[in-house]
Amino acid sequence: MALIGKASPEDVSLHPIKYKWAYDLYNQAVRNTWFPHEITLKDDLQDWAKMTDDERHAVKFLMAFFNPAELIVNRSLALGVYPYLKSPECHLYLAKQMWEEANHCVAFEYVLETFPFDREKIFDLHLEIPSMLAKEAYINKYLIRMTEESLDITTIDGKKDFIRNLVATNIVMEGTWFYSGFMVALSFRQRNQLRNFGSMINWVLRDESLHLQFGINLIHNILEENAELLTEEFANEIRQIIIEGVNCEIAYNKDLFPTGILGLNADYVNQYVQYVADRRLEELGLPKYYNSTNPAKWMSGATDVYELVNFFEAQNTSYEVDGHASGKVETTKAE
Ligand SMILES: [Fe+2]
Ligand SMILES: [Fe+2]
Repeated sequence: MALIGKASPEDVSLHPIKYKWAYDLYNQAVRNTWFPHEITLKDDLQDWAKMTDDERHAVKFLMAFFNPAELIVNRSLALGVYPYLKSPECHLYLAKQMWEEANHCVAFEYVLETFPFDREKIFDLHLEIPSMLAKEAYINKYLIRMTEESLDITTIDGKKDFIRNLVATNIVMEGTWFYSGFMVALSFRQRNQLRNFGSMINWVLRDESLHLQFGINLIHNILEENAELLTEEFANEIRQIIIEGVNCEIAYNKDLFPTGILGLNADYVNQYVQYVADRRLEELGLPKYYNSTNPAKWMSGATDVYELVNFFEAQNTSYEVDGHASGKVETTKAE
């Protein structure tokens, strides 16, 4: 059984498991389950009262993009990824990931309800601000292709379209844009502000690191099984899609930081975006493009790719549910 293709009635047996990494990721994702209301955001309201207008703008601007973005990821998984995979273990993982994206959307709704925000005004930003519209248009361009009847997943062109959409949604949106936004969100906690909001972002980030690992494994396995896709031309095209995504984020960061806030400005965040994009290129086996160093070294604990690679071996001391089932030591929830 191949990974990519239209699932047939026979493709419903989990055993023998062919893509164990997908099943392992599913089990890890289940252990990572969390619920937004476990976090008491009210404690952060005192910090909010003391924050500057520029700092508040940054938080609102992040929420304006993240909230709809979670649902856009789900649309891409439902319309552009799930229907074109045959593997039951991949379907299991995607079902859990889709619940997580829904959970992230609800978590950000909880932020919008708890902070003194005008929800409608914030939510409308993603329909008005050109840099946000450009990010959504970038994703939709690839996603819409996946829904067209002319797409034939059995052809080289169809498989290329699948990879293009996966790179845009998984590598760029989840693996680069989200990491940049989370870095900004967590920078408040670095300065001892919005610590509970920071805990929530940490849990979202932990989920996203698995989403990214699933996407990267998926791309590698599909390329391995479809050697006809391994051309220099297609590799350059993938690289170009990622660079185009970085350009979208650089334009967005200008609007996120019209002037800059304490210890953070658009240049700093752009450098981080470029650093992360280089990591993603390397993870896909492509050469680096930016050669930027990590300006936010304090983030490496949360996002380091080597941590991702060693995820299953690592002693995970953070909150996990169903720890007994995995043979891991049950730990208490601590942030
Ligand atoms: Fe998410
Ligand atoms: Fe995600």
